[in-house]
Amino acid sequence: MATWHRLGDRSELSQRVPLAIKLERWSVAVFLYEGQFRAIGNTCNHKGGPLSEGRLRGEFVMCPWHAWEYSVITGKGPEGYDEEQVPVFAVEERTDGVYVQTPPTMPRKLIKHMPSHLLEEHPKTPGAPPRVLAISTTAMDDVNPRFSTSDALLEHALDQAKRRGADTQHIKLRDLRFRHCEGNYSKAARACTWPCAITERDPEDQLTAVYEGLVHWGDVVIIGTPIRWGNASSLYYKMIERPELGFVFPPFPFIAHSRGWDAEDMQNNVRQVKMSDTLREASYELLDRALDFWTIIDKHKTEMDKPMERAGRKANTLPEPETAEEEVIA
Ligand code: FES
Repeated sequence: MATWHRLGDRSELSQRVPLAIKLERWSVAVFLYEGQFRAIGNTCNHKGGPLSEGRLRGEFVMCPWHAWEYSVITGKGPEGYDEEQVPVFAVEERTDGVYVQTPPTMPRKLIKHMPSHLLEEHPKTPGAPPRVLAISTTAMDDVNPRFSTSDALLEHALDQAKRRGADTQHIKLRDLRFRHCEGNYSKAARACTWPCAITERDPEDQLTAVYEGLVHWGDVVIIGTPIRWGNASSLYYKMIERPELGFVFPPFPFIAHSRGWDAEDMQNNVRQVKMSDTLREASYELLDRALDFWTIIDKHKTEMDKPMERAGRKANTLPEPETAEEEVIA
């Protein structure tokens, strides 16, 4: 049954819009556009972002989480995306105030999107060799290449992986164009998504290979980074901000080389790494430890596939946003 809800006086309401209000089981976003009050569902069709906190650009409100847009008049997306729709509620201005009617006059309309190819698994046939993914985070101008000690050690480890019969993949972050994390997690836990919202909406972003390698492909992941002034490379940080993934590393999970804080004669550093049998051997051993550890895990795979209590936000399902409004799935 249709019910009209009084929201308040025009003058008082004008000061408060845009606003979110719960009317019965509907979460409603109220806007003032070209002098008229408009009411649409407050819950974004994408991941449930609060539309009342979005920015108005003309008649479209932009979701504050990942920038999907909806008309505050029709509830539809802009041209080309107008099959999606959030609920639209009738609004009336009467002498005693502004009223909104429930249920909505237009229901939510969701379009089934193709699942991201990042959700496709890369299954291995039983008995297939382990997969070793090496990621170089060294920044370098490839037109004017230089010798990278961290890359050299990473390549030694990869050689050892090949000798042990593993499938290998080598990703150099410097060859990929990918965007910085936009900090959606800082807006809300739900706003940080998997697959990443950047990957979903920017086909030019090339971090896909890293995601596929880390999530679906690699049994063993080895990362190489230069350490400058005590820090990993900027590309390393740019990458790890994006995936938000957890790893298990074997004991003594890294090798590192330093001649001391005051050794600023890098040419000698390079010479020493090139000549060092110890470091080369250490790279082989690092790979051996990781691969041996994976072999143990793989043997116990069936036990590990059982549901287990895990820590961390991504390990546990977040409560669904309020989507109690009537829904139509096209
Ligand atoms: S754009 Fe609204 S939740 Fe992603």
